[in-house]
Amino acid sequence: MDINKTAKKIVSNNEVLVVCGIGGSYLGAKTVIDALTNNFKSEFKIIYLGTSLSEDEIIEALDYLKDKEFAVNVISKSGTTLETALIFRFLKNLLEKKYGAEARSRIIVTTDEFSGGLRELSIEKEYKTYFIPSDIGGRYSVFTPVGLLPIAASGLDIDEFIKGARLASKDLKEVSIEKNLAYQYALYRYINYINGKSVELFVNYNPKLESLNEWWKQLFGESEGKNGKGLFPASSIFPKDLHSLGQFIQDGSKILFETIISFNKPGNLMVEKIGNNFDGLNYLSSKSVSEINKNIKIGTAKAHFKGSVNNLIIEVDKRDEKGLGYLLYFLMKSCVISSYLLGVNPFDQPGVELYKKEVFEIMNKKQ
Ligand code: PA5
Repeated sequence: MDINKTAKKIVSNNEVLVVCGIGGSYLGAKTVIDALTNNFKSEFKIIYLGTSLSEDEIIEALDYLKDKEFAVNVISKSGTTLETALIFRFLKNLLEKKYGAEARSRIIVTTDEFSGGLRELSIEKEYKTYFIPSDIGGRYSVFTPVGLLPIAASGLDIDEFIKGARLASKDLKEVSIEKNLAYQYALYRYINYINGKSVELFVNYNPKLESLNEWWKQLFGESEGKNGKGLFPASSIFPKDLHSLGQFIQDGSKILFETIISFNKPGNLMVEKIGNNFDGLNYLSSKSVSEINKNIKIGTAKAHFKGSVNNLIIEVDKRDEKGLGYLLYFLMKSCVISSYLLGVNPFDQPGVELYKKEVFEIMNKKQ
């Protein structure tokens, strides 16, 4: 696959790949990469810019990059998103200063095939370019080059990732709700919603899945929140947040229900027995940390249910490329069905345009 070839080239010529994008143009890739790679081990780094206009962040990033061999994958379907375009300007400038004409080979563009300023620039400068199919919006684009190129550059197997999605696509064509898990999840959400539970808390028990939380929030928030309808998508990492939000979830306003993701992964890190049992934890010896984490998951779900917080545990077979491909496809399909249950269009985001209009008015942008 051409994407694998480009990814190999990026990795062999660089120490860092900068993924420059916002919203659906970076979250899918970050979700998979964070979930499946070991940041402490990898010598080749992937960093993400384009989501913030904090001068601190920009200055620090440029300072870090100036002494590194780096490439940029700028990702913007519209090719006009202010945050992405502005950061790309700084990155392109640094690349051109550092490498001169050779900068061209270190810029990879992912954009719409038919329109947008980024597409025009990529044609003019002859950058390596990947196209996003016109009918696929950012938050649904993780299986296009938007997600696949950075994922491949991280060393993960994108063929397995797609295999997982294909399997989910096959399974979720099932018309009977008894056999279709996406229909069941969508219905679970809808029933909570019409019963006054308007906030869904999406919970993971592993900080490596923090980006999955962010991706899920964008997917459901932007797809459903329109025409005065929709569930508010919130997320947590437990047990961390049990010690900050736990009190509210258990005992506060009854506006929440939970969806918990659980990966079936056998544990290797065993608790050892110690002589003086100073912390009183010897009763846990011979258990793995994963098993303890799982027991906290089950116990917490029971306690929250007793506090009138409904919860659903979604079990995923394996935390690997195929498992993630399956899970992300499942969540996208569920989101579409859930939006249709609410009677909204899952594929547009008219509300996002309004903030842009106000900002452009303040800055007197000539349209
Ligand atoms: O899901 C979406 O369509 C959005 O979140 C976009 O991904 C986000 O606004 C970035 O847009 P673009 O890729 O055009 O820069």
